[in-house]
Amino acid sequence: MAALPIVLIVAIADNGVIGDDNRLIWRLKTDLRRFRSLTLGRPVVMGRKTFLSIGKPLPGRETIVLTRDPGFRPEGVHVAHSLEEALATGQRIGVGMGADSVTVAGGADVYRQALPLSDRLELTLVHATPDGDAVFPEWDRSAFVADGRESHPRSLDDEHPFTFATFRRRA
Ligand SMILES: NC(=O)c1ccc[n+]([C@@H]2O[C@H](COP(=O)([O-])OP(=O)(O)OC[C@H]3O[C@@H](n4cnc5c(N)ncnc54)[C@H](OP(=O)(O)O)[C@@H]3O)[C@@H](O)[C@H]2O)c1
Repeated sequence: MAALPIVLIVAIADNGVIGDDNRLIWRLKTDLRRFRSLTLGRPVVMGRKTFLSIGKPLPGRETIVLTRDPGFRPEGVHVAHSLEEALATGQRIGVGMGADSVTVAGGADVYRQALPLSDRLELTLVHATPDGDAVFPEWDRSAFVADGRESHPRSLDDEHPFTFATFRRRA
């Protein structure tokens, strides 16, 4: 059976910042809705710090948390001790739940490792320049082809304008 595609999902400010002090730094309800629809019914791989910042397993999804700490075993999630193990668990669980992809939801450390393995990037380009200590890594744009953009203005729900942008890895 063909492997499920790996889909990396991230919201990135114009200056590359994705978070600060282990938390999100904007209120974008439309982006949260998109994150939910891209991840619902699928395995979601994330680092231990991002998991702690969310604080609980994501409902309707299978959360796979990466840590090197053998004692870290929170309830309701799968724990993996290497990216390889996390993605293999994601494939196994994803096939079992009839998912169309294995998703990767950060943070910076996990994105850096998962980027070379990702088949599709679902970016939210947030048009703001916040301060932050977590930055999205440099990525090889020539390895991907743009496949759709959708601009959204600032609104009562969304404190910054932003653009959804999809990139697919070149064949
Ligand atoms: N804007 C967005 O879309 C978005 C999305 C997600 C997160 N974020 C932000 O990103 C920031 C967190 O990112 P981060 O880079 O600090 O942390 P992170 O990637 O969430 O977690 C890093 C931790 O994951 C574990 N880990 C990573 N690679 C591993 C591997 N290969 N094998 C085993 N364990 C591994 C380690 O846990 P141990 O230390 O336990 O060993 C490591 O300390 C926060 O500010 C958060 O808000 C933003």
